[in-house]
Amino acid sequence: MADDLSGGRNVAQITGRTRLYGILGDPVHQVKTPQGINRLFEERGFDGVMVPLHVGAQGLETVAKALRELRNLDGLIVTVPHKTAMVALCDELTPAAARVGAVNAVRRTPEGRLRGGILDGEGFVAGLRRGGIEPHGRSVYLAGSGGAACAIAFSLAEAGVARVTVANRTRSKAAALVERLRHNFPALAADVGGRDPSGHELVVNCTSLGMRDDDELPLDADRLDASQVVVEIVMQPAQTALLRAAARRGCRTHPGLAMLECQLELMAAFMGAPEPGAAGGR
Ligand SMILES: NC(=O)c1ccc[n+]([C@@H]2O[C@H](COP(=O)([O-])OP(=O)(O)OC[C@H]3O[C@@H](n4cnc5c(N)ncnc54)[C@H](OP(=O)(O)O)[C@@H]3O)[C@@H](O)[C@H]2O)c1
Repeated sequence: MADDLSGGRNVAQITGRTRLYGILGDPVHQVKTPQGINRLFEERGFDGVMVPLHVGAQGLETVAKALRELRNLDGLIVTVPHKTAMVALCDELTPAAARVGAVNAVRRTPEGRLRGGILDGEGFVAGLRRGGIEPHGRSVYLAGSGGAACAIAFSLAEAGVARVTVANRTRSKAAALVERLRHNFPALAADVGGRDPSGHELVVNCTSLGMRDDDELPLDADRLDASQVVVEIVMQPAQTALLRAAARRGCRTHPGLAMLECQLELMAAFMGAPEPGAAGGR
């Protein structure tokens, strides 16, 4: 898949039979999922289109209720800052979404029911493996304790990592995540850490730090060494200050776009879009 995920959708192809998908976020100008999903639909010959839907926290409930009534809408992607709030607005959740307490994909049934799932963690682990990085048995330093960090921590635990250290600006949130990991995965060594990532094989930035030029680094990059793999989930810019600092210290790096690329197929399947070669083309 191309690095920029640019889609080539011709809007003249949208008709009264086109199935609709939306991505809910605030802000929404930075999203990359519509380009990727629309190109995937195009490649499959599927008559569907995804559009960004800019809604703030106060309007989310009203919008979610209204979207239930849209009979040509099949699914939604949910991004910052709505992933947690969306949980209460769904009729049912996948076991993973219930455990993580966040939703990033919603399927709307023909009856107008909303089923919420979380695909961030699954996409992250698939992206690592596609990049030739197997997490099983590894020790992991994970910066962040927000929605993406929780989903990724649970999926890494499911993938069989041996040890996880969670560090976060709000330390109580890191402690809460560690407690939930210990409860769900008793064999996993899970602890709260500080800014020093040394002694871990995989170092993962799951904070939103790196999106802006003036952001500080999410961890102490001076403590990185060439034996470590440094993984980013921030996608914009593709090369964050952390990835540049890690490369300077000889680390192997893995960019944030890999996670989204792997999530696109998972998202399409979750929202009920036909598999390649199935009926439903234009
Ligand atoms: N590559 C992908 O496919 C993909 C998928 C999902 C998300 N993402 C990206 O992942 C990032 C996090 O998303 P999210 O949904 O987890 O967001 P979130 O729930 O809002 O969590 C944000 C995290 O970043 C930390 N943080 C934010 N500002 C900070 C600052 N100034 N200093 C220190 N820590 C700070 C927060 O710490 P506190 O708890 O202390 O506030 C929290 O741990 C975003 O950049 C998003 O675009 C990428």
